[in-house]
Amino acid sequence: MKILVTGGAGFIGSAVIRNIIDNTQDSVVNVDSLTYAGNLESLSLIEDSERYAFEKVDICNRAELERVFSTHKPDAVMHLAAESHVDRSIDGPAAFIETNIVGTYTLLEATRSYWSTLSQDKKDAFRFHHISTDEVYGDLEGTDDLFTETTSYEPSSPY
Ligand SMILES: NC(=O)c1ccc[n+]([C@@H]2O[C@H](COP(=O)([O-])OP(=O)(O)OC[C@H]3O[C@@H](n4cnc5c(N)ncnc54)[C@H](O)[C@@H]3O)[C@@H](O)[C@H]2O)c1
Repeated sequence: MKILVTGGAGFIGSAVIRNIIDNTQDSVVNVDSLTYAGNLESLSLIEDSERYAFEKVDICNRAELERVFSTHKPDAVMHLAAESHVDRSIDGPAAFIETNIVGTYTLLEATRSYWSTLSQDKKDAFRFHHISTDEVYGDLEGTDDLFTETTSYEPSSPY
């Protein structure tokens, strides 16, 4: 498979990419705009792999995302790019609304546009995996309470 990972220069995304390159035969294209939270040194051990490519692209940029999809033709998306530090959202929510909401929406639309061009087999196999946080679903009531795939969003902050 070729997996498009967003936010691959971040804390979790870089570990995901190192794991894919080290422990599978899959390829990765890392889409990251390198905000203050991104650090390519986290990928220094795998950056020379023929199965790794880096695209410095903002997920809010639809035209650039379409270029990335048509160049790399991924089989799946793992979406980790985010403004991820909740405390920063209290003082400055704008970047959170841009990346977490507008950026996720733009990535979903670019993915759908690309997905619609695939063969039926590839459409059926394609996955969009959004790695996010419990913050978007609000609070659980107790230890028996669970979120499911049909749980509605109930965010408790701009984060
Ligand atoms: N770190 C944790 O403990 C934790 C726990 C639960 C959930 N999460 C969630 O997992 C996801 C990843 O978390 P993380 O800790 O790796 O985050 P991080 O802040 O370490 O990394 C985020 C990455 O996204 C990139 N990025 C930010 N805005 C971008 C944009 N507009 N376009 C392209 N790239 C952009 C940054 O450059 C950075 O490399 C987030 O959604 C976060 O909420 C993290």
